[in-house]
Amino acid sequence: MQKYEFKKIEKNPMDNKISMSAKNIIAVASGKGGVGKSTVSVNLALSLVSKGKKVGLLDADIYGPNVPLMLGIKNEKVTTEDNKIIPIKKHGMEIMSVGFITEEDKALIWRGPLAMKLIEQFLGDVKWGELDYLIIDLPPGTGDVPLSIIQKLKLTGAVIVTTPQEAAVADVLKMINMFETTKNHIYGIVENMKYITCPNSSEKIELFPKSEDNEDFKGFKYETIAEFPFIPGIGNKDKDGTPFYLRYREHDTSIEYDNLADKVIKG
Ligand SMILES: Nc1ncnc2c1ncn2[C@@H]1O[C@H](COP(=O)(O)OP(=O)(O)O)[C@@H](O)[C@H]1O
Ligand SMILES: [Mg+2]
Repeated sequence: MQKYEFKKIEKNPMDNKISMSAKNIIAVASGKGGVGKSTVSVNLALSLVSKGKKVGLLDADIYGPNVPLMLGIKNEKVTTEDNKIIPIKKHGMEIMSVGFITEEDKALIWRGPLAMKLIEQFLGDVKWGELDYLIIDLPPGTGDVPLSIIQKLKLTGAVIVTTPQEAAVADVLKMINMFETTKNHIYGIVENMKYITCPNSSEKIELFPKSEDNEDFKGFKYETIAEFPFIPGIGNKDKDGTPFYLRYREHDTSIEYDNLADKVIKG
């Protein structure tokens, strides 16, 4: 097994876009961590697989690369071919995560001033199959790292994930601004952990209720394209690492993921 090695950077990698063998590249973005960006990336990717698409999932969240954990990928080492990294295959898709590279390399790259260039190089060095959709779990926020990633890719569009409380409005506006200034299409907003369904009455209880003068997402130019409830245990997998969407195909939330996938396919 060969180890992936970073090459010496000779020219400014900002000069060119990274070419990837995917017909569509979809960025999943959020203003902050912990709102469900990875959960949405994983379940959206699985729904696209169930629709017969060839899917890759790229976990580019250097601050919290937890896609491997969510998909039950443990102790699997990526291999390389001609210094290109071969993604891991699981649940019918190809998966690559910044979490797969070794501990020493991580300390080296995510800190130094070369971090952004190295991330871009890493992104370009993955040998994907011929994909219909590449879903990218971006690092949260609008800082230099997510910005440089989206500048380097030819995105088809972006999905913005948020929890629907007042304090998130400013975050969502910043995300919109980042994608608009980089001239990228925005599919819309995913409101995650919006409500909980009372187990006794089936009543929907909003987790972030709005007061009359609260700002919310209704005034936005972009519509809400999916609403997911708070589901205790959505992050749990069975012992084979099978995630929620594959275990509960008939669940309302899985069907909402299918609706989201349809909207992404439609553009
Ligand atoms: N709809 C949901 N209901 C309940 N828990 C959720 C939901 N979406 C995400 N979570 C949980 O919230 C935590 C953060 O989600 P995650 O997808 O890791 O967020 P991010 O990638 O934005 O940091 C995880 O433990 C995840 O299982
Ligand atoms: Mg995450």
